[in-house]
Amino acid sequence: TGFTTLDNGFVNTSTARSKITYIDGDQGILRYRGYPIEQIAENSTYLETAWLLIYGELPTADELAGFDARIRRHTLLHEDLRRFFDALPHSAHPMSVLSSAVGALGTFYEGSMSTSDPEQVELQTIRLLAKLPVIAAYAHKKSLGQAFLYPDNSLSFVDNFLKLNFGTMAEPYEVNPVLSKALERLLILHEDHEQNASTSTVRLVGSTQANMFSSISAGISALYGPLHGGANEAVLSMLADIKNSGQGVERFVERVKNKEEGVKLMGFGHRVYKNYDPRAKLVKESANEVLSALGVKDDLLDIAMELEGIALADDYFAERKLYPNVDFYTGVIYKAMGFPPRMFTVLFAIGRLPGWIAHWREMNADATTKIGRPQQLYLGSTQRDWPQR
Ligand code: CMC
Repeated sequence: TGFTTLDNGFVNTSTARSKITYIDGDQGILRYRGYPIEQIAENSTYLETAWLLIYGELPTADELAGFDARIRRHTLLHEDLRRFFDALPHSAHPMSVLSSAVGALGTFYEGSMSTSDPEQVELQTIRLLAKLPVIAAYAHKKSLGQAFLYPDNSLSFVDNFLKLNFGTMAEPYEVNPVLSKALERLLILHEDHEQNASTSTVRLVGSTQANMFSSISAGISALYGPLHGGANEAVLSMLADIKNSGQGVERFVERVKNKEEGVKLMGFGHRVYKNYDPRAKLVKESANEVLSALGVKDDLLDIAMELEGIALADDYFAERKLYPNVDFYTGVIYKAMGFPPRMFTVLFAIGRLPGWIAHWREMNADATTKIGRPQQLYLGSTQRDWPQR
């Protein structure tokens, strides 16, 4: 009974009151807790930004050092969880591995899963931040058939993660500051984006008072799809297809405009940005810098730039206000760093984790939160009687 409005895709419905992230999609503005993303990307680190998102203010030097130290202390995975990876095939997509392993991770901490005890909520926060990168690196190593390394807590958050991915048992690992800086910046740019599909998923699951691990495992599943985080992997395969088919960029754009089945300009368009995505601007700057610092020449970057130029000058894209989004240039950088395309969305997940945690905590701390329970417009049959047979 009663009147309900259909809002297909939640284009007009706010489901949360939030103080975390502000976006003005028409002007291309993004701020975390009031600070412009450009200033954060220039000056901050992944962990400092995580603190800002989760606790609302910038940390003091002592607070940040304490946060970092607590996270380092929690990087080890339970040995039984290491063996969890043995049960999965080498061919498993690392995003499926990631969401399953985060769900499984929660089973190790059932005694400290309270959603109302602030100390336990804090412990869940620290454990997730410390262990997700380790799980992610093991998903990568698993796909390569290489031995898992133990975390090296003498290294920074980002260097530890890079070592877990690119180090081997056979040789000492050398930190590469170009890689560290580039990855840190990309992770920061992904840390939050208000009520996107995965964050909304985390909030919806969390509104049932499910614990943080289960809520974030669901968020990772939502991120996997090619219309959301999976777009970064899809962009790279689109660029590679354009190159390998020899069809040329103009021809590809024609196919997009003709709405050929399954042909979309991946990494373009956004529900909220009707202007250049401010993150895409920063990523594009990094792409040139990182590739030249690493001494990598990649035709795919040239194809991406040509594609962007043609699309931006075309009426189809102008009329629909379609601009490059954050996923358009990230894949080219991740590839230059040595990550396989199937890891790209996993990197997005590590980036987005602080945002998911901040939103889960904001929702959980708000006494007015109600279980999320959308309405529907029922279009099925009216009552009918079971047939006499
Ligand atoms: N290529 C070609 N046409 C497009 C694209 C695109 N990438 N994106 C939107 N359009 C067209 C769409 O066909 C529609 O045209 P028409 O009015 O003629 O039917 C119009 O633009 C409006 O699009 P929409 O699908 O109604 O927009 P939406 O807000 O529902 O979808 C989107 C947003 C991001 C899902 C969509 O733009 C898209 O599929 N982009 C490609 C995938 C992608 O890059 N996703 C990453 C999003 S950003 C960060 C993240 O979440 O990871």
